[in-house]
Formats: sequence, C-alpha cells, structure tokens
Amino acid sequence: MVLNMDSSRTRITKAVIPAAGLGTRFLPATKATPKEMLPVVDKPAIQYVVEEAVSAGLTDVLMITGRNKRPLEDHFDRNHELEEALRKKGDEARLAKVAESNDLANIHYVRQGDPRGLGHAVLCAAEHVGDQPFAVLLGDDLIDPRDPLLARMVRAQADHGGSVIALMEVDPEQIHLYGCAAVETTADSDVVRVTNLVEKPATADAPSNYAVIGRYVLDPAVFDVLRTTEPGRGNEIQLTDALQRLATDEALDSPVYGVVFKGRRYDTGDRGDYLRAIVRLACEREDLGADMRAWLRKYVAEEMAD
Ligand code: G1P
Repeated sequence: MVLNMDSSRTRITKAVIPAAGLGTRFLPATKATPKEMLPVVDKPAIQYVVEEAVSAGLTDVLMITGRNKRPLEDHFDRNHELEEALRKKGDEARLAKVAESNDLANIHYVRQGDPRGLGHAVLCAAEHVGDQPFAVLLGDDLIDPRDPLLARMVRAQADHGGSVIALMEVDPEQIHLYGCAAVETTADSDVVRVTNLVEKPATADAPSNYAVIGRYVLDPAVFDVLRTTEPGRGNEIQLTDALQRLATDEALDSPVYGVVFKGRRYDTGDRGDYLRAIVRLACEREDLGADMRAWLRKYVAEEMAD
C-alpha cells in the first residue's frame, strides 16, 4: 500500500471567498445588494472569482457571508421561472447565460455573524476546510483569466509547502493600501520567501514595494494562529498579522512564500478602479469591444479638444 506521507502535497480542492463586507464605498448601490453582486460589464463580480477558482481546479467553494447576502445564494442556484420563460421564447443564448452559474462548483455558505475582519472571516472556514491546504480569494481583486495566478500558487505550494501569498510590485505611494511583504529570493524565479509582513504601512515604514493581492493558498496551521491573533489595524483581526506570525516564528514550522504576479489585475474595490475595470474589460469583449473602443476614441478626442 502506498501512503501519502506528505500532507502538504494533498490536492487542493477547497476555496474560501470572504463576502461579508458591507460595501460602504458603493452606497447607495449596496444598501440592499451585496457588493459582490455589482456587475462588471454584465456579470456579477463574484462570478468571475468563482470561475477563477474552478479553473485552478478548486471545485468546493465556501462563501463567508453575512446579512443581506441572499442574492449570492440565488445567483448560484437555479432560477426555474426565468429559465422556463426563456425556453418558451426559444432564447437559447440568454438561457445559457442564466444557467452558467448554476453548476459551476459545489458552493457552501457560512455566516460570519460579527464582521471582525478578514482574519476572522477566514477563521469561520476552519470547520469546513479541515486539515488540508486551501485557497482564499478576495472579491475586490479580479485576475485576468489569461494570466492564471492561482494555478501557479497551487503548484508553488505543492513544491515548497507552507503557505503561498500573491505579491505584486506597486508604486511605493500605493503601498499603504495593501499588506506589504519583506522577501528573499528562492531558486524559483517567480517565487520568494516571505520574511516579514505588515498590514497597510506608511510608505516610509514599508519594508518593500511588494503588495499582497487578494489570492492566498494557506496551510491549515493558519487557523490556530488566527485563534490567538488580537485585533490589529482598524481594530480588526487581520489575516496579514496571522501570516506574519507564520512567516517569522520558526517554531510554527509553516513558512510563507510569495508568487510574484506580473499579469493583469483589476481592482474593483473602489469606485474609480471599478469603473476603469469595466471599461477595460468591455473594450476587450468580442461582442462589445469594437463599439466601445470607437466610442471611447471619439469621447477622448472631444475631451482633448475642450
Ligand atoms: C485586504 C488585506 C490586505 C491586502 C488586500 C488585497 O485588505 O488585508 O493585506 O493587501 O486585501 O486586496 P482590504 O483591501 O480588504 O482592506
């Protein structure tokens, strides 16, 4: 009998998507609608994220939700009435669009109760995840499917063990918006060893310009650390603080690595970036792109003439 002696090489199947935020930056749109349901072109932001998890081989998705999150559950469930109406009309194209999200993945939901921060949201997944490495995807970051980051992180975790975070070099002026990592190189050119982490430092205090972006492949050891992580920045239990302990406390024997991402990432977390993401993605769409680009050129020309 062959035993799998190395649990870090267990195939990763579970993805956790925190979706309990209040979305206050998008009020009033998010008064009764979760921000994860806001459309990016014509698809809710959350569907891109689930599709990304699935394309990296993660078919078990746990969403950490809160109040007002019913629309999320409805979106990933069947809508018989709508399907029937479209079928009667013979509108196969729209029927396919409605059905797209029904069977994407096995989706589970757990409620966070008190919104006590990202670290707390991840801790809510402990029971569902159990004792195996798992991914965390934050909905405010959209990663272009042509630049598959998560699959690379899953492979890096299998090769190096421990946890793997996604890092991107940003303008030092922007680092206060992100977790920031101090790193050392490894033999893999796109993988670094994380030696320290700070949540949203001022530019002057930042150990580097490597920003943590919203993709993580985590060792389940993070749960025990989160259980004893005190509230940090913003009085919230920060995932970054738990990962900082894993990265720096050798006794925990659970190192943290980073995959340095150089691909296309769209931030949908603030209004300006959200609008820019929509314009960029619409311009690249086969059905909308030509019209959109022609209109944009005209619009910009008029703006410059003013
Ligand atoms: C969270 C994390 C932060 C990370 C960011 C990526 O912050 O706490 O470390 O850099 O996501 O998007 P948030 O943007 O949710 O405040």
